[in-house]
Amino acid sequence: MKAVLGCVSSLYVAAAFLGPQYRQVPSFSNGLTTGMRGRRQLIVSAADGTSGSTSLERETLRFLNPDTVENLANQYGTPTYIYDMATLKASARSALSFPNAFGLTVRYAMKASPNAAILKLFNNLGLHIDASSGYEIQRAMRAGVPASHISLSSQELPSDFDSFVDLGVHINACSISQLQRFGERCPGGKIGLRFNPGVGSGGTGKTNVGGPSSAFGIWHELLPEVKRVVAEHKLQVVRVHTHIGSGSDPAVWQNVAALSLDLVREFPQVETLNLGGGYKVGRMRQEQSTDLAKIGAPVKEKFEDFALETGRKLHLEIEPGTFLVANAGALVCRVQDKTSTSAHTFLKLDAGMTEVLRPSLYGAQHPLVVIPKDRTRADRAASYVVVGHCCESGDLLTPAPGEADTVSERELTSAEIGDLMVVEGSGAYCAGMSTKNYNSFPEAPEVMLAPDGALYLIRRRQTLEQALQNELDLPTSALA
Ligand code: LLP
Repeated sequence: MKAVLGCVSSLYVAAAFLGPQYRQVPSFSNGLTTGMRGRRQLIVSAADGTSGSTSLERETLRFLNPDTVENLANQYGTPTYIYDMATLKASARSALSFPNAFGLTVRYAMKASPNAAILKLFNNLGLHIDASSGYEIQRAMRAGVPASHISLSSQELPSDFDSFVDLGVHINACSISQLQRFGERCPGGKIGLRFNPGVGSGGTGKTNVGGPSSAFGIWHELLPEVKRVVAEHKLQVVRVHTHIGSGSDPAVWQNVAALSLDLVREFPQVETLNLGGGYKVGRMRQEQSTDLAKIGAPVKEKFEDFALETGRKLHLEIEPGTFLVANAGALVCRVQDKTSTSAHTFLKLDAGMTEVLRPSLYGAQHPLVVIPKDRTRADRAASYVVVGHCCESGDLLTPAPGEADTVSERELTSAEIGDLMVVEGSGAYCAGMSTKNYNSFPEAPEVMLAPDGALYLIRRRQTLEQALQNELDLPTSALA
């Protein structure tokens, strides 16, 4: 099988080239400091940088408690990802009750967190899979997902895609060239079409995948060319697919649902409309989340109106990733150093962009919760810049919101070297989207927390031998 690593490697490259120069968010010597952008905090500093007051704005643990965090660190070391089975199940049930008129399939966008334990859990709950590469298809099948429950929407069509079609995997052609290749190999076959409906919406520019500046899907105005290729190979277009971004504005998403129905009108054999994922999930307390019941209700009505008008009862598919896993995962790590400059006190973690890349890449905000060794310190607060363990200033856990290269301070529980730190909201696009092995740090293990409190290791910590296993020696003569 041909390598299909486009998405991951481009993220790695983007991260590697993050500029080293930061615009510093100023701090003021009069005791007033700009912490997170948009709010000013009164910090009365003691010599160690701590303040005596408890902040109401400090983030708290979601599904963990301090004892579980300590147990996890003692048993598996740090950094370690932990997922909460109860939250995973609850989010799956909530997605499965998405309003629908004539039937619903929920596909888990497995790129969000592709560990087999999570795939198996969701498979058992009746979720299907959205895969974005041939490798993801294989990974899902190895986890026991039936091929017929997998749909591929990929930036790079695997070279042997027809072998997956033979097994029953559904393919959405995401470009005219993909459609052409499908037609040549599978004439008369059933195909889905991923369209770029002309508008997109994402939490950041990097996660907006619709509109004229986006390479995802077939540009909607290329309809005549699509119809020509479909006719040439006698293809049956049975699905229309749109996905416009991650962290989408709900109003834009609903508007695109209407545009997508217009695309369905163009293909009388379409039975299913897939409206993608991208539902906004607040990780920080003040961030908004999209209410699926609310955005789904008007879309359900649109499906009903469409049925009245055309007699066609469309099946609805949605394919969330973030919604299903983001707040069901956390990273447990340790403060391994603490330094200061004239401007900031820095906490250095034994983790960073190697485990949670989102802050460095998007300026994404993740709740940070300090678990002090000495619990009596738990009511003291201080402001810190939190950084990762990689040797570049891009490895930053507290960027200003949406500004990956702006250092900002966060008010946290007062921390010392050796304290544990929990990076919340790390279930989506963290273990599955890391700058793996940068600075030769090994891949962190993953653990599942069961409802009865049991901890199950679902991926071991990588060893240095495993990280190096594919390196080959140059012949001595070539080194001379
Ligand atoms: N369907 C398709 C075709 C997709 O490309 C994606 C995500 C999804 C569904 C699921 O989107 P979600 O519900 O997770 O927003 N790395 C970014 C997100 C990039 C998502 C790429 N495609 C992040 O960390 O937020």
